[in-house]
Amino acid sequence: MTTHENTTPTPRTLGATGPTVFPLGLGCMGMSALYGEADRSESLATVHAFLEAAPAGMNTLLDTGDFYGMGHNELLINEALRTAPAAAREAALTSVKFGALRTVEGGFAGYDGRPAAVKNFLAYSLQRLGRDHIDIYRIARVDPDVPIEETVGAIAEAVQAGHVRHIGLSEVGADTLRRAAAVAPISDLQIEYSLISRGIEAEILPAARELGIGITAYGVLSRGLISGHFSRDRELGPGDFRGMSPRFQGENLQRNLDLVEALRKVAAEKGVSVAQTAIAWVLAQGPRHGVDIVPLVGARRRDRLTEALGAMQVELTAADLSAIEAAVPAGAAAGDRYPAAQMAHLDSEH
Ligand SMILES: NC(=O)c1ccc[n+]([C@@H]2O[C@H](COP(=O)([O-])OP(=O)(O)OC[C@H]3O[C@@H](n4cnc5c(N)ncnc54)[C@H](OP(=O)(O)O)[C@@H]3O)[C@@H](O)[C@H]2O)c1
Repeated sequence: MTTHENTTPTPRTLGATGPTVFPLGLGCMGMSALYGEADRSESLATVHAFLEAAPAGMNTLLDTGDFYGMGHNELLINEALRTAPAAAREAALTSVKFGALRTVEGGFAGYDGRPAAVKNFLAYSLQRLGRDHIDIYRIARVDPDVPIEETVGAIAEAVQAGHVRHIGLSEVGADTLRRAAAVAPISDLQIEYSLISRGIEAEILPAARELGIGITAYGVLSRGLISGHFSRDRELGPGDFRGMSPRFQGENLQRNLDLVEALRKVAAEKGVSVAQTAIAWVLAQGPRHGVDIVPLVGARRRDRLTEALGAMQVELTAADLSAIEAAVPAGAAAGDRYPAAQMAHLDSEH
């Protein structure tokens, strides 16, 4: 493992038809929801620092969902873009998920992928973001009552109308990828992929390669679990996803943190951090699997962002990859990546 200080990052193109972007995207979810309190001014500063980290003219990808904080996240991105330097604003691309239904109490109440609903969600998102188009638009989870062809067809109409540039998918399996790609070009599949979530390697990555679809990988630090900064003592507030996630409970958490300690030894020998090693591993999987992979990092503070960006300078040799995979073998994670009720919504797991 070697590091290259200040090497200009090479942009990655998402699939055969998607945009060409800075190799890391910024996932903004944690700035509004699911990981406890977030600091608004630090969130804005983090988005600005991310936009400015890319070389001039290189597109950057900001990932959000209309249901993250029920519109809060899109309004935050609107403010961040309005207050960013013009060149950084113009280079920023938005990737938006829709379809999740919410309750007054903040709960989740299923998904709506009907064409009329797609257009309604889109109208609200454009308004909240203050943009005249969304760069990549995708349903967060397949609506079991609506064929994917209809949902994707509605987004394709929005592409024709100029309100959306590219169509994405989220957490779908290989069959759904094929059905969707038969309707319209798909730029990327957004799906969880990390050292401890390697389920996509068997069927989904090969299908993406065959169909010319890129991957925007989320949870590359497994929601902080394999960042090297998580510990058993971490107090999680109400509504923190990790308080319900099987991987963060009791015995599972200890077993998973033991994997992190093994990874820490590999990282320390190379003089890089655990988080950088985990992100660099995902970055290295694109060339290995013949698929364009852009990891979405969930940094919501500038110090975390700086650490994550450092992963782009880490070059992993075949021996490094072997050492990393010996420390965290495929399938070694203890616990599912979502609670049972949410696992049931994952087309990718069926
Ligand atoms: N399509 C989907 O179904 C789906 C699902 C989930 C997420 N996403 C998208 O993917 C994005 C990333 O997901 P994620 O937030 O779960 O990813 P992640 O990067 O695996 O986890 C982010 C968490 O890791 C912690 N962390 C520690 N060190 C870090 C570092 N150096 N850089 C970044 N984070 C660090 C953060 O810390 P602190 O706690 O210290 O802030 C944060 O809580 C989301 O923001 C969202 O846009 C999509």
